Amino acid sequence: MVIAHSLPEDEIAALCVQAYGLHGELERLPGENLNYLLSTAPGERYILKLAGDELPADVIQLEYMMIEHLVSAGIGLSLPRILPNRDGHIETRVDLADGMKLRARLLEFVDGAPWCQAGESGPDLLRDFGRRLAEIDRTLSSLDHPAAHRSHRWDLTAANTHREKVALIEDPERRRLVERAFHVYAACALPHLPELPHSIIHSDANDENVMVEGGRVVGLLDFADSLYNPTICELAVALAYAMLERTEPLETGAQILAGYHEVRPLSPTELQVLFPLISGRLCTTVAVAAERRTIDPDHPNWYVTESRAWDLLERLAILHPVQAADMLSAHIDLKPEQGSGSDIPGLLRDRKAYIGPSLSIAYREPLKMVRGLGQYLFDSEGEPYLDLVNNVCHVGHCHPHVVAAGQGQMARLNTNTRYLYDELTAYAARLAGTLPDPLDVCFFVNSGSEANELALRLAETYTGRSDWLVVDNAYHGNTSRLVALSPYKFMGPGGKGQPEPWVHVVPMPDGYRGIYRGQDRQVGEAYGDAVGEVIATVEAPIAGFLAESLAGVGGQIIPPPGYFRRAFEHIRAAGGVCIIDEVQVGFGRAGTHFWAFEQQGVVPDIVVMGKPIGNGHPMAAVVTTRPIAEAFASGMEFFSTFGGNPVSCAIGMAVLDVIEQEDLQRHALELGSHFLDGLRALKVRHERIGDVRGTGLFLGLELVRDRVTLEPAAPEASELVERMKARGVLLSTDGPLHNVIKIKPPMVLDRQDVDMVLRMLDDELRILPA
Ligand SMILES: Cc1ncc(COP(=O)(O)O)c(C=O)c1O
Repeated sequence: MVIAHSLPEDEIAALCVQAYGLHGELERLPGENLNYLLSTAPGERYILKLAGDELPADVIQLEYMMIEHLVSAGIGLSLPRILPNRDGHIETRVDLADGMKLRARLLEFVDGAPWCQAGESGPDLLRDFGRRLAEIDRTLSSLDHPAAHRSHRWDLTAANTHREKVALIEDPERRRLVERAFHVYAACALPHLPELPHSIIHSDANDENVMVEGGRVVGLLDFADSLYNPTICELAVALAYAMLERTEPLETGAQILAGYHEVRPLSPTELQVLFPLISGRLCTTVAVAAERRTIDPDHPNWYVTESRAWDLLERLAILHPVQAADMLSAHIDLKPEQGSGSDIPGLLRDRKAYIGPSLSIAYREPLKMVRGLGQYLFDSEGEPYLDLVNNVCHVGHCHPHVVAAGQGQMARLNTNTRYLYDELTAYAARLAGTLPDPLDVCFFVNSGSEANELALRLAETYTGRSDWLVVDNAYHGNTSRLVALSPYKFMGPGGKGQPEPWVHVVPMPDGYRGIYRGQDRQVGEAYGDAVGEVIATVEAPIAGFLAESLAGVGGQIIPPPGYFRRAFEHIRAAGGVCIIDEVQVGFGRAGTHFWAFEQQGVVPDIVVMGKPIGNGHPMAAVVTTRPIAEAFASGMEFFSTFGGNPVSCAIGMAVLDVIEQEDLQRHALELGSHFLDGLRALKVRHERIGDVRGTGLFLGLELVRDRVTLEPAAPEASELVERMKARGVLLSTDGPLHNVIKIKPPMVLDRQDVDMVLRMLDDELRILPA
């Protein structure tokens, strides 16, 4: 551009004559680009555009093709047709004296006045605009061009790439606002875009490019941002601009949408993603402006839309996505899917009437969930929540491959394990293949509790003993025996407060606040030896040791290296069986290994798995060694009506497919270490964080009031969880002191989610009351 300024006007005039045979008056048009008005006779006007060599020739070719296509379809709008030069080329190359090059294009003059100057905005014009836009989209849907398959700064499908710029916005309230709008975009629009109709779109129908005259849209300028996109992005961009500075922005949008829908009817999904896309566009505007401000805060053209975009974002922030879609569709018969069923007070009343009162409900203000998708849950208002809690929907809520596998098998066959069918053995072989030898015999049941119960029976039959060692603060299930084996329960509210005589509790291998805190010795081995010390106090011979490989409810504890090796040595020396409960953490969550116990270089005698195994379908498994399985075949049959049924096996298989195909274990490792790094950086900034720990996508954040005394900050942890929920992020607290924030999301979480959560935690920790 700098070079182009130096091209004298007489040379430009000469160019017009030589290349186009046109004589006339030249006038430089305002704006960043080098555009000139060329008037050759009264009423005969052209635009001459000069650009550097940076504009790819194929993009100009794309513009040319689009406009010609629209003209030949008789679109009836005045468009900036590119006029070929005397040699028949749509561009004229100009060699400058200093060796630089310019490219010139001559365009037909477009009728009308830019909408922003015309001062018209009645419903007729809005509807006309909608209809015109839809005609353009409908016409362009039959065109394709390789250059359109590109992305650029304003590509609405790539708005997420601007999300990290939120950190550059200084005002915390504005950061909060744009964070939420980006979140709505990412959760409610992005996942649906691939399935929507795509076509080449103009992608920049703003009020400077739309030309109006006599209350009608008569022309459209500037095809430079055109690209192949979900077609609905056209309307979203147009609405994001048209709704700026309106007293009733959604009514403005609704009028344009009504006109559009008349010509190119929207699908329900297109209507559903429209508001989130508008949010994405407004976010892009303010995020790009924030970034640009760090480069040149006084640039004349960079901030023209910014303050109006903030204003609109602020006004839209009070709306839920379904409510916004409802308002945008006010004048058409298509309506967004509304939450059905009872409202929250009604559901609470019915739960009280019909459901056992021992159940708790998450959050001060309960959430009514109506849909799940990937890493998101949606409430009845369509509000998205990033789910950082649900390790059950391991490969993502409602993963289509898992859903299809379950539906397909349900429609084909569901029976029990007393018949032969391929699904059982195929799944068992595949599952056993994920475990080290000699763990290769599978039993299938329906819940983690049932699986742990069965594991106990296997071990007891094998050893002929019934005394057990368990880890302090552990939880293993809801049956009487498992409650008796879960210190989290029997020591917790409503519990007996002491173990049964056959239950022996060993210390939790907690490197942060456990009994060996601050000691120089190898703490893993020390905690392992503590297992031996407890065995020495037990009079009866022990049946075995039941332990979670990583402690969940105990507070996201990662046992120190060497712990299980030493503990297993003691157990086996005493003739006991080692059971590892992987119900919370198995199936690649730990990142480094498929099974978390593998991190410790041990092989248990029995592995118990549940939760993620069926991505939410109730199933669980126990895998053991041949000798233990054979000892269990003592004459009494083991049968579970539903365990291992073909539907469960098909679902389990599909979960393994997704983990493999989407490389989720590696993803957990990489994203988990990025998350961990971010949490550690927060710890440096916030005294309240006492400890950060985790592996893969199993992470914990322990809050304390004092880093020396480790006084737990339990109310603060709960408050932080509530505040994050208010911002659309689901977390929970746990640990014996209720001060650990647990992070164990569906494994399809992405980097933008993690960065958003880190930014939000940073903001909230800064203002968290003591
Ligand atoms: C480690 C562990 N084991 C077992 C269970 C019991 O599983 P379920 O609720 O499927 O019976 C749980 C459930 O939270 C668990 O966290």
